[in-house]
Amino acid sequence: MATRLIDAKTVLVTGSNRGIGLQFVKQFLSKGNHVVATARNVDKATELQRLVSENEGKLTVAPLDLCDPESIARLPSEIPFERVDVVVNNAGVSANFRSLEDTSSGVMMDTFRVNTVGPLLVAQAMVASGKFGGGDDKAILANVTSKMGSIDDNGSGGSYAYRASKCALNIVTKSLSIDLQDKNIDTILLHPGWVRTDMTNGRGLIDDVTSVKGMISVLEDQPELNGKWFDYKHEAIPW
Ligand SMILES: NC(=O)c1ccc[n+]([C@@H]2O[C@H](COP(=O)([O-])OP(=O)(O)OC[C@H]3O[C@@H](n4cnc5c(N)ncnc54)[C@H](OP(=O)(O)O)[C@@H]3O)[C@@H](O)[C@H]2O)c1
Repeated sequence: MATRLIDAKTVLVTGSNRGIGLQFVKQFLSKGNHVVATARNVDKATELQRLVSENEGKLTVAPLDLCDPESIARLPSEIPFERVDVVVNNAGVSANFRSLEDTSSGVMMDTFRVNTVGPLLVAQAMVASGKFGGGDDKAILANVTSKMGSIDDNGSGGSYAYRASKCALNIVTKSLSIDLQDKNIDTILLHPGWVRTDMTNGRGLIDDVTSVKGMISVLEDQPELNGKWFDYKHEAIPW
């Protein structure tokens, strides 16, 4: 029996037209959740459209581009549900894991906009809308980071933009875990593992099914979520 039942709750997943985000949507739907799935281009999100027709009334696809603050500000109004119980900030970019020579101001700023600023503004907009947090039941904000953003774990260097943007997301998440406590929101960091998706060019140790199953079980079974950082195997990651 799970410590914390999230079945049948309403969940928002960003960047869910492919990869880990799409797998989150599929697994949440199979658990009976109502799901809001975001995509930059809703018309081209064909797999999500197929899922909408198979899951009538359970799945909504909403447009969201994390590089556009106005798109983020509009997000709560695109959600047809009164409340959202779980927000999974999943969307992210890798900047192709560049070397020192290949790193530019543009690459740094573009990566920060998506991986760090975007998730923060999504949390801000959702809380401000009154749809997320502030209820009697505990809400969950799960930010999908990477072990590559761990200072302690960095043994190989490189990937400046990606590492720095995820490291910055981690400290943003820590502050949110303090600031959102009075809204009854637990804020947590999740590391998916090294997963075979487009981001990794199909390389990795695990598939998306294993990764997402593990991360959802963290949300359900870890006794304490707020301010913590776990991978899909429930291992605590050093900051
Ligand atoms: N795969 C891994 O091994 C791994 C490891 C550690 C952490 N992660 C993290 O896990 C998350 C998902 O990764 P993934 O492997 O599933 O990557 P992916 O296959 O490349 O998918 C990334 C998703 O993010 C969306 N996205 C990109 N830029 C966006 C923007 N400006 N606004 C809104 N959405 C945007 C993409 O939408 P479009 O289709 O429109 O581009 C896509 O849906 C990321 O945060 C990543 O950093 C992955």
